[in-house]
Amino acid sequence: MPIEDRDAIRTIGVLTSGGDAPGMNAAIRAVVRNALSHGLKVRGIRRGFHGLLKEEIIDLSARDVSDTIQRGGTILLTARCKSMMTEEGQQKAAAICKKYGIDGLVVIGGDGSFRGAKTLTELGVNVIGIPGTIDLDIACTDYTIGFDTAVNTAMEAIDRVRDTSTSHERCSIIEVMGRDAGYLALWCGIANGAEKIFMPEENDYDEAALVEDIKDCMRRGKKNYIIINAEGVGDSINMAKRIEELTGIDTRATILGYMQRGGSPTCKDRVYASTMGAMAVDLLMEGKRNRVVGYQHGQYVDFDINEALSMKKEISGYQYTISKTLAL
Ligand code: F6P
Repeated sequence: MPIEDRDAIRTIGVLTSGGDAPGMNAAIRAVVRNALSHGLKVRGIRRGFHGLLKEEIIDLSARDVSDTIQRGGTILLTARCKSMMTEEGQQKAAAICKKYGIDGLVVIGGDGSFRGAKTLTELGVNVIGIPGTIDLDIACTDYTIGFDTAVNTAMEAIDRVRDTSTSHERCSIIEVMGRDAGYLALWCGIANGAEKIFMPEENDYDEAALVEDIKDCMRRGKKNYIIINAEGVGDSINMAKRIEELTGIDTRATILGYMQRGGSPTCKDRVYASTMGAMAVDLLMEGKRNRVVGYQHGQYVDFDINEALSMKKEISGYQYTISKTLAL
């Protein structure tokens, strides 16, 4: 790699974008401290691309990220930014990066944030993406920051719902987040031993068959019937009403909502996010440009951002099949 290229990185910008995810602070901290250790200047951009367009840019020191690794949310704040979908917004964002001397911009967020980042690369801004979303729906990586914490939070909450469901011999529908992806639903379904999982990727909702299965399970001595329903399928309240009407069994719906996005990150999220944050800086220092960091088959990897965005991810059909077998 050419030495001039490496020398070109003097200032790094970092922002979090889209839905917050536990572990984002660990990634920010790692970006800041690794960059400082290389003698770089670090600029934190508050409120994602929205804040970039408003020039909400602050200098970050090692002490600014002290005491943050264990905190949920993002100390830089985050936002969803419609203006970044317009050419005018993208041009303005690129111009602001240049104005503040940002030679490399680290974007921590999901697919939507990466699409925003990709437009900046076309306008001459060097970008490194770090996958941060509780949804686990980024194709180039088996791990995304926040999923581990969110899935453990949801699992614990569902265990609690199961206790009360058993006491009352009820059917419970628990709706988990995930937008159009069913990873949270599938993992909780297996981890909580659910009788049924509904997720967008395998939407085989059949009301008559479900009603028969619930009645059959109760006849066979089950004390509850747990359904994990993905946000992408939705309609949990209505589903509960219909099931109660058709089975005569008390049925309740619980929508877990934003509690899944908050809370102190797990050890895994802290360690993986720290590694990815440090790696983003190292990639820039090695002369790499416009990459997305990922974790595949036990290794930290990086891909060209265009390649990363063109990849497709499939949920495990095998895990879905065994989730049914194990619910016997
Ligand atoms: O992408 C994370 C996520 O929590 C999704 O699971 C959910 O669909 C969405 O964000 C909710 O977004 P908002 O915070 O804008 O309501």
